[in-house]
Amino acid sequence: MIKTIYWTSNNKVRLIDQTRLPLEEVAIDCCNHHEVADAIKTMKIRGAPAIGVAAAFGVALVAVKSRASNTNELVREIDEAAEILSSTRPTAVNLFWALKRMTEVARAGSHLSVARLKSVLKDEALAIADEEREMSQAIGRHGAKLIADGDSVLTHCNAGALATVSYGTALALIRAAHAGGKRIHVYVDETRPLLQGARLTAWELTREGIPMTLICDNMAGFFMSRGLVQKVVVGADRIAPNGDVANKIGTYSVAVLAKENDIPFYVAAPVSTVDLSIEGGQDIPIEERLPGEVCEIRGRRIAPEGISVANPAFDVTPARYVTGIITDRGVVYPPYEETLSGILGKARSKT
Ligand code: MRU
Repeated sequence: MIKTIYWTSNNKVRLIDQTRLPLEEVAIDCCNHHEVADAIKTMKIRGAPAIGVAAAFGVALVAVKSRASNTNELVREIDEAAEILSSTRPTAVNLFWALKRMTEVARAGSHLSVARLKSVLKDEALAIADEEREMSQAIGRHGAKLIADGDSVLTHCNAGALATVSYGTALALIRAAHAGGKRIHVYVDETRPLLQGARLTAWELTREGIPMTLICDNMAGFFMSRGLVQKVVVGADRIAPNGDVANKIGTYSVAVLAKENDIPFYVAAPVSTVDLSIEGGQDIPIEERLPGEVCEIRGRRIAPEGISVANPAFDVTPARYVTGIITDRGVVYPPYEETLSGILGKARSKT
């Protein structure tokens, strides 16, 4: 089993350095929240649910290592760390969701002793990681029912164990269908510019013997038009209450191609990815990353010097292209304004 990120017995955060996969399988330890923030920013850890767990662990590191003499001081340190962690990547809402949960727990525990609050915060981060693991399993169970024996499924980016604590979201249902004995084949988009599909999804699937074919992003339409893809399943970094979905750049193009070819397009994500504080996809901040990621491949220049380069890391797929959203609480279908709020429960507080 892939263990993407976990808390060690000597109070460190251990994570697989995803920038080195698939060539090297190396785990690194983060000893403080600055190291966690750096790991998120440099994408040693990436994928919306994994980023959320990393941020919660970053806050827990502050708590267990704090020398605060009173609880107010500890809460202040937690708030400062949350601020630093929240500035790492803007699109995945799980980051802000986890930080909000940790800072709220800190504030609610301000009447406790310093020692007690430290352990409450560590337990909360561990609970977030456990819940994330369970949500992946539940997504797998619900989503596998949508996969028929013999299906070829296309996926984009990496929404696997490496993007969560283990098991994944889009890959969770592929894993569950495969484990349930369904013959399944996966078309893996390479996912330029950072190649999460080629480097990470291909690594995960081959480790488990799930049949797959790696394709360049611009080949997806070719395979769809030839009737070789029966379903598309992707993850999400943020889902608006109206069903608009932000995910890795290129997802929108895949969704449009799927609709053109009458192929169901599913999004798999835990409910912590739904952002009730916004109205639609237009409100989702899109991360712009450095141009070097586009005009270099693994440090080697592939384009002329001095040119203009754009590098949005995500795009928004309008809800009208989304056949269904597979959550840990079940699969929802349009109209998402009703079905998403139904599944989340009207009482859930806004993020
Ligand atoms: O830039 P990344 O690699 O963090 O982007 C990841 C994605 O777009 C994933 O599809 C998304 O976070 C869902 S992961 C379960």
